[in-house]
Amino acid sequence: MKKSLALEYEDFADYSELPELEQNLVEKAYSISNDAYAPYSNFKVGAAVLLGNGEVVLGSNQENIAYPSGLCAERVALFYTGANYPNETIKLLVIVAKGDLLPFDKILSPCGSCRQVLVESESRQTEPFQVILVSQNRRTIRFSSAKDLLPFAFGTI
Ligand code: THU
Repeated sequence: MKKSLALEYEDFADYSELPELEQNLVEKAYSISNDAYAPYSNFKVGAAVLLGNGEVVLGSNQENIAYPSGLCAERVALFYTGANYPNETIKLLVIVAKGDLLPFDKILSPCGSCRQVLVESESRQTEPFQVILVSQNRRTIRFSSAKDLLPFAFGTI
């Protein structure tokens, strides 16, 4: 039997089109990205997690001279959230980046390992969380669920 999947997401020319609360999260993610430890790639990534209680958890990428030992910004933020707020609901995750690794008009799109972690973070709670991704020229896309970024994630089908 042949089956198909459809995916809906929103595309904004500029993140200023987002509601103010979401714009603030984008700004917070940019702000934390300045302190990323990324001496090897010079690609500074910031992530902001909005919790159900209104608190915001921030993360940045943390690299290491043994390259695979480093960790992406969104995993830093999500694992911190899991460790410190295991019972809070994640409402929204924002990921932004600065650096030459990506052309200015390319959306920061999380790596496969991070997608797997996003999906499992979402599966720990009863409701989905939104994911907002931004390019350096401020174009923005918004997903209504983490699983939209990784259909057929390991452990889900
Ligand atoms: N990186 C992130 O932090 N998040 C992503 O979504 C993509 C990549 C980091 C990993 C590494 O420190 C640097 O960006 C270059 O790949």
